[in-house]
Order: sequence, then C-alpha cells, then structure tokens
Amino acid sequence: MNYRYIIVKTTDVPDADTFLTALELKQYKHFAIEKRAAEWLAGRYAVKKLASEFFNLPFKKLQVKNDKNGAPILQAMGGNNLTISITHRGDYAAAAISLTGDLIGIDIEKIETRPQGWTDQYFAKEELLASDDAYLTEFWAKKEAVLKLLGLGLTVPTTQIKILNNEVQFFGKTLDIWAFKGSPKIAFEMKTLDNTYKLVVAYPTVI
Ligand SMILES: CC(C)(COP(=O)(O)OP(=O)(O)OC[C@H]1O[C@@H](n2cnc3c(N)ncnc32)[C@H](O)[C@@H]1OP(=O)(O)O)[C@@H](O)C(=O)NCCC(=O)NCCS
Repeated sequence: MNYRYIIVKTTDVPDADTFLTALELKQYKHFAIEKRAAEWLAGRYAVKKLASEFFNLPFKKLQVKNDKNGAPILQAMGGNNLTISITHRGDYAAAAISLTGDLIGIDIEKIETRPQGWTDQYFAKEELLASDDAYLTEFWAKKEAVLKLLGLGLTVPTTQIKILNNEVQFFGKTLDIWAFKGSPKIAFEMKTLDNTYKLVVAYPTVI
C-alpha cells in the first residue's frame, strides 16, 4: 500500500492548543460556527496523529493548509509537503496520507435516505445497480473521494466521473486533470463505521 489512513472519534480530539501551530490556532479561533470549528479541528488532529506516528515528528512541527480550491496540504517543518486528504462527518474524522507523493482522496458520509432528485442529479443511470441508502451513500463517497484525489472536490459536477464495475471514467475537467497527473488507475478501499457511516479511500494503484 502506498498510503495510510486513520479514523478518529471527534470525542477523542484533545484541546486545540496542545497540537495546533500558532498559525493554525489563529485560523481555528476565526470560525464563527462551533460545529464547523469542531470538524475542522478533528480533521487537523487526524492528519497530525497519522503523520506524527509515521514520520516520528511532533504535532506542532506539522501544519495543514488549504489551496485555493480547498484541497489540504501537509507541511512538515524543515521537510517536504505531503499529499493528504481529510474528511469529517458526525462522530468521525479521517485523514489519509500518500507515502509516495501520489494522489489520495478520502470521504466519510452518513448512510441516510436522500430524495430521488439527488440521485438523478449526481449519478448516471448505469451507475445505479441498486437503490438502497447504503449503496448510494457509498457510491457518493467514492465519487467525492475521487474528486478530492484530483484536488477538485465539488467544484465540478459529480457526473464528470463515472464509476462502472469499480473502474473510474473521467470527463470534462476531471479528464484533463487526470491526464495531467499521468492517467493512473484508481482503486478504492471501503469501510462501514457503526453501521452508520461509509468511509471510502480512493488511491492510484501502482503498476
Ligand atoms: C470537498 C468538499 C466537497 C467537501 O466535502 P464534504 O463531504 O462536504 O466534507 P468532508 O468533510 O468530507 O471534506 C472536507 C475536506 O475536504 C477537503 N477539501 C476541500 N476542498 C477540496 C478539494 N478541492 N480537493 C480536495 N480536498 C478538498 C478539505 O480538507 C476539507 O476539510 P477542511 O476544510 O477542514 O480542511 C467541498 O469542500 C468542496 O469541494 N467545496 C467546494 C464547492 C462547494 O462548496 N460546493 C458546495 C456544493 S454542496
């Protein structure tokens, strides 16, 4: 595996000043909405816990920034930037790190019933091999994980990627970026948490 990921419970996140850098603390204090601040903090904690264990660095020597599209970048003080992905939803936050500087995307979604219009808008008909909440939630998480891996998130429609038999097809802007990144084959790792959430990691397979 050329990546690692970690899942943390939001209730296990320690106080912000124990692990954020001065710049991150300043950012944290600017959030007006408490829920957003807690999610943001849990995402930072997840990334730092993972990177700190793997690279044997203290939390405060690691700093997360977001690029203009919102994609996160992990800066190891005195070292290189590391390719990461972050997700937070409800009781959980998770982060993934590529160990080889490759693309990586992670997403957690809550299994819930969504309106038919949502399905029609975000999926191609041929992707809909089932219609139960667990299937659709996992499928949505796969799409978001791939769009995060490309650094786009939801700045493009989810219909710009199609996933058939676990093979990802790219269209429009996603095709341009995927080609620019060397057209890697994308694979998925999936997990169900508490029968309530679907977690998906999207990663490039090494040939
Ligand atoms: C990526 C995105 C879809 C968020 O997904 P989500 O399921 O709501 O939330 P998640 O918790 O799974 O992911 C949030 C994390 O994704 C990451 N992220 C955000 N934009 C990203 C991008 N362009 N590429 C990769 N990762 C991105 C960030 O790390 C963010 O966490 P942070 O802000 O605390 O650093 C969303 O932030 C995005 O693309 N926004 C831009 C477009 C938009 O706002 N559309 C609204 C349509 S609903």
